[in-house]
Amino acid sequence: MHAELSREGLLEKLRKKVENCRKCDLWRTRNRPVFGEGPVDAGIIIVGLGPGRQEDLQGRPFVGAAGRFLDQLLAEAGLSRSGIYITNIIKCFLPENRATEDQIKSCTPYLDQQIEVIQPRLIIALGNVAACYLLEKFGLRCEPMERVHGRVYEVSSLTLSLRIVPMYHPASALRNPELRGRLIEDWRELGRIIRDLGLAG
Ligand code: URA
Ligand code: SF4
Repeated sequence: MHAELSREGLLEKLRKKVENCRKCDLWRTRNRPVFGEGPVDAGIIIVGLGPGRQEDLQGRPFVGAAGRFLDQLLAEAGLSRSGIYITNIIKCFLPENRATEDQIKSCTPYLDQQIEVIQPRLIIALGNVAACYLLEKFGLRCEPMERVHGRVYEVSSLTLSLRIVPMYHPASALRNPELRGRLIEDWRELGRIIRDLGLAG
């Protein structure tokens, strides 16, 4: 067991594994794996789909166009990015922004371990892939984003007890401007929920 390793130590060990990972075909076309970033004791984790071009070049999550919109949504919710752990379902550059079942299956054990180490109280799942993965991980049924966005699911396992909130992916509003207003509303409401839960700040 790793009882002697701190949470920082556990995440650093995992980061090295991701940096050397060749479990799926995506390692061939990545520049820098995007492990994730944020406080090891964050109460909130945001999970996106996977790195785009900017993220791949910088090795950091959500630093491109979708990231700029995410920053705006966080501001709408009254949340500060620096207090949140941000990562993705897939850790290496996703050329078409579409992940295969195999890639998801290969990569999500890393996310599972990040969640176990951080022990968040809330996970915000951005987009269908993250929402379905996380809901199904806790035995819930995956439903269309139109139905589940903004809903709060209380889930638990032997080692975890937390809430999951599925949200539209910020990139979906860049493709479909009609979603923009709904996303902003969802995030304002999420900010209120987070303050009621005492998780803000
Ligand atoms: N889109 C994602 O899902 N994740 C990122 O890190 C950037 C864009
Ligand atoms: Fe490994 Fe995930 Fe990268 Fe695939 S995407 S090579 S599973 S780190």
